Parts: sequence; C-alpha cells; structure tokens
Amino acid sequence: MAAKLKVGILGATGAVGQRFVQLLERHPWFEVVALYASERSAGKAYGQAVDWRLPVPQPTYLDDMVVRRLDPDGGVELVFSALPKAPALEMEPRFAAAGAAVVSNASAYRMAADVPLLIPEVNPEHTALIDHQRKARGWSGSLVTNPNCSVIGLVLALKPLEAAFGLRQVQVTTMQAKSGAGYPGPPPEVIGDNVLPYIGGEEDKLESEPLKLLGTLVGGAVRPAELVVSAQCNRVDVLDGHLEAVSVALGERTSVAEVTRVLAEFRGLPQEAGLPSAPEQVIRVMAEQDRPQPRLDRDMGAGMTVTVGRIRPCPVLDYKFVVLSHNTIRGAAGAAILNAELLCHQGYLALPS
Ligand SMILES: NC(=O)c1ccc[n+]([C@@H]2O[C@H](COP(=O)([O-])OP(=O)(O)OC[C@H]3O[C@@H](n4cnc5c(N)ncnc54)[C@H](OP(=O)(O)O)[C@@H]3O)[C@@H](O)[C@H]2O)c1
Repeated sequence: MAAKLKVGILGATGAVGQRFVQLLERHPWFEVVALYASERSAGKAYGQAVDWRLPVPQPTYLDDMVVRRLDPDGGVELVFSALPKAPALEMEPRFAAAGAAVVSNASAYRMAADVPLLIPEVNPEHTALIDHQRKARGWSGSLVTNPNCSVIGLVLALKPLEAAFGLRQVQVTTMQAKSGAGYPGPPPEVIGDNVLPYIGGEEDKLESEPLKLLGTLVGGAVRPAELVVSAQCNRVDVLDGHLEAVSVALGERTSVAEVTRVLAEFRGLPQEAGLPSAPEQVIRVMAEQDRPQPRLDRDMGAGMTVTVGRIRPCPVLDYKFVVLSHNTIRGAAGAAILNAELLCHQGYLALPS
C-alpha cells in the first residue's frame, strides 16, 4: 500500500470534525494519526469522547485513539481544522509555524490578505498567496481556508454565470440546516415548528466572501470582484443541507436555456485532474418544479455535488433559481479535503513517495 500523508484533525469531536473522521476513513492519500479537541475531551479515547450524531454508522477505526489537547507537538504534515473561531485564531498559526499545512473551516483567517480562501473549482490559482504568506509570516507550513458553508454552494453556482455572462448583483435568502450551528445546536423547543430569521455574523460572510473568491490575483494580493451581494439568513428545522433562493443581475442578456446549460456544464480543475474527492458533476440542474429539496438531494455526488433548480426569469434582477449544498460535506469537511488534495496536486504539499 502506498505511504500516506500524516493528518491531524482539530475539533475532531464536533459536527464538522465527525465528518472529517467519516470522510477520511478510506482516503487514498491521507491517514489520520492525531485527533485534537477541548479540555472536555482531551485524554479520552475518541470512541468515548465523541457523541456521534451523523446519520451514518460511527466508523470504528479511530475509537482507541486518545484525543489530544491543542498542541502543535509535531508528527503531522497536514492539519484539518474544525475549531470555533477563537481557538482557531490562536492555534492555527501555531500549527503552521510548526511546519504543518493547515486547511481550515473556521472563519478566523478567511479574509486575511495573505490567506487563500479557496474553492478548487472556482479559484485554484489563489494558492499562489501561500508563497507570500510563507515569506511574510516566516513559517514553513501554510494556512488555507474554505468559505462559509452557505457561500460555497452559492459561489459554485455564481462562478460559471460570471465567466459566461458577467455578474453585477446577487440577492440571496438562505434556509440553513441545524447542523450548521455545530453541536448541540439549537434545542428542539427553539427550532421545532419554527424558522429563526437571524444567524449571527452569517450575512456579513455571504456579502464579503464571494468577492474574494471571485476576485483576481494581482501580484501578491486578491483584487475583490466588483459585485454587490445582499443576503438574508435563516435557520430552519432541517438536519443537513442549506437551501438558498438566489436572484442575479448578469452583465449581458441571455436566456433561461443558456443559464441552464452553463450551470450544468460547469467543470473545474478538480474534475480535470481527477482529484479523489472531486464529484463527477459539480452542479446537477434539476428540471422538476419542486426540487432541489434538502432531504432528497443533499447527498448527490456523495454530498459534493451542488443541486440547482427552478431557473426562471426574475422581474427585479435577471434570473432566479434555488441552490442546495450539503453544509458539512461540500460546505465544510469535504471542501477542506478537496482543498488539501488541490495543495498536493499543485505541489504545495508533497505526497510520500
Ligand atoms: N457546522 C457547519 O455546517 C460548518 C460549516 C462550515 C464551517 N464551519 C466552521 O467549522 C468550525 C467547527 O464547527 P462545528 O459546527 O463542527 O462546531 P462544533 O460542533 O461546536 O465543534 C467544535 C469542535 O471544536 C472543539 N473545541 C471547542 N472549543 C475548543 C477549544 N477552546 N480548544 C480546543 N478545541 C475546542 C470541540 O471539542 P469538544 O467536543 O471537546 O468540546 C469540537 O471538537 C467552526 O469554525 C464553524 O464556523 C461549520
């Protein structure tokens, strides 16, 4: 069997951490050798520390591995971070300074000028920021991030439209799953039979991160895309899968048929390069009037395919449609794993020979 990169998971017991554990079990390039979480879990075997909540059986391969305190104690070449913002702010640079490639889900460094904010199908060239980052921060490791879980589905749908027609304005209303709030998440007496029309900090992320993702790399910096995004975010009583109602103003006139074709044909570097976690189909366009739906469609392409439906003219902007993406797979752990595969493909991370 080929040697694999030694990987650690920060925040391994949480909603996203559990997805990493599930998705990395049989990864062809990465092998989990270290698990990290808070003082609550440190010192316990993972099987005891974790309260497994995913709707798939708990894998047993890490049951006996003892969970560690956050300490860059070496031995890992690649670190996936599923930490909340505050510990991520403090600890992610310490792991990078110890020489690890840190691939983070947290919002702490997403908008830092020298940190790539990546979706491999959208802006794989932004990894060039790593060279500037290493010089500026004086570390041999690296730090890259994936966007907010609602931003990923949205921008995967915006990118082909921007490339084909130009993009001026976006209005998005999200209906976000409970698992997006981490564990334990909103209690049943709060979210049951209800919609919460506020998610702290979320609308700012929806309005700023797409500009960096769709921005242009000029010298050692990203020039943000000239685009206005208006977002309204809601938490709904759904287990997994963020649904988004989107309206767009394009740069030129087109047709529903052309918008549909451009979305359905979208492919990127991960598909061309055959990266292990790349879905064959980036966007599945559904023709049924009442799709996509979270319960029926979130697992498309093992949770890595984004589904789009209800493409139609918009009387205010140009076109409107519905986007669905799996928030803890394409929106978090799967996104980070694909980012790490991109770093390997581009030579920023060396696979053992
Ligand atoms: N949920 C999503 O859909 C989603 C999507 C994209 C991005 N994200 C981002 O991913 C990160 C993790 O989110 P989540 O939903 O998985 O959160 P979560 O369920 O609350 O899990 C947090 C994890 O971090 C650990 N942790 C908390 N405080 C810590 C500390 N001070 N030191 C060390 N470990 C600590 C927890 O360990 P214990 O179990 O020991 O407390 C747990 O393993 C967040 O930054 C979030 O914004 C989440």
